[in-house]
Amino acid sequence: MTAKHAPTVRELLLEAAATIGRSRSIDHWQPSQSRWDAEELMIEVLGRPLDAAMRRSAISAAERRRFATMIARRVDGEPVAQIRGHFEFRGLDLHVRRGVFAPRASSELLAAEAISALRRAPRQRIGVDVATGAGPMALAMAHEVRSADVWGLDISPAAIRLCRQNARRIGAANAHFRVSDMLSALPSRLRDSVSVMTVHPPYVARNEVRILPREIRDFEPLHTLTDGSDDGLGMVRELAAAAHRWLRPGGVLLVEIGTYLARSCATTLRHGGLVDVRSKRDSLGVTRVISGLRPR
Ligand SMILES: C[S@@+](CC[C@H](N)C(=O)[O-])C[C@H]1O[C@@H](n2cnc3c(N)ncnc32)[C@H](O)[C@@H]1O
Repeated sequence: MTAKHAPTVRELLLEAAATIGRSRSIDHWQPSQSRWDAEELMIEVLGRPLDAAMRRSAISAAERRRFATMIARRVDGEPVAQIRGHFEFRGLDLHVRRGVFAPRASSELLAAEAISALRRAPRQRIGVDVATGAGPMALAMAHEVRSADVWGLDISPAAIRLCRQNARRIGAANAHFRVSDMLSALPSRLRDSVSVMTVHPPYVARNEVRILPREIRDFEPLHTLTDGSDDGLGMVRELAAAAHRWLRPGGVLLVEIGTYLARSCATTLRHGGLVDVRSKRDSLGVTRVISGLRPR
């Protein structure tokens, strides 16, 4: 009888990617996503990058079991970031926790736009991220523009606790976080002085939540997905109307939104009195960043 060889990392990855690819809990909107998911989870198990030698080698039985458990959770729909417990956003390793919206790679465009606007802004530079979640935008701004003071606001106390932990971990002493319904907890001394305001709102229309893939619907809290409005733009309307009381003249509001909402979001910003409204598409083609300025 020949002894069965222990599977190599490469074989485990191929099998795991195929299993993930068959899951009906996952959207599968990117062809290579199953493979990337399997690789990310393997890296988590091994604690090091996957080079060619690593792919050819076998791993221990304990590592195989841990990998299999993670793959089963992914097949059930749980997002990779929640399984790993952390997510890399613009080079920052951020902690992620169930109950707080997990940052997405698609939000990197919003962060990039916000950071370059903040760098261009005259001093005193102030950034505000509304609906900050685990804090990716606020923390990226604070980390990359050290001369700025950045405020992250979220209605969820669990999100704000996580933001503060993430800020301590990356040493972002210039990031401040408040539990806040919209802008309600932003200090009034910041009126007319905000250089850049960002928001990635819960923009799924109320009636469309039920048709979201299980990996989103069942693993992110409802208030992180929808603001309860019919069109998904309730929060954007509120913010567009309030922004000019907080932005300095020439300051910018940046909104991350689904591509299908880009045009109505731009109209909403114009109705709020913002000017020079523009739309920029991310390289993945899923989101857009709509920007508008407070008139000078
Ligand atoms: C789509 S998530 C975005 C989180 C984060 N900005 C990101 O990109 O990862 C929307 C966030 O809006 C927050 N939120 C919902 N209603 C809010 C409100 N009225 N005021 C402030 N934040 C709110 C949720 O708690 C959630 O963290």
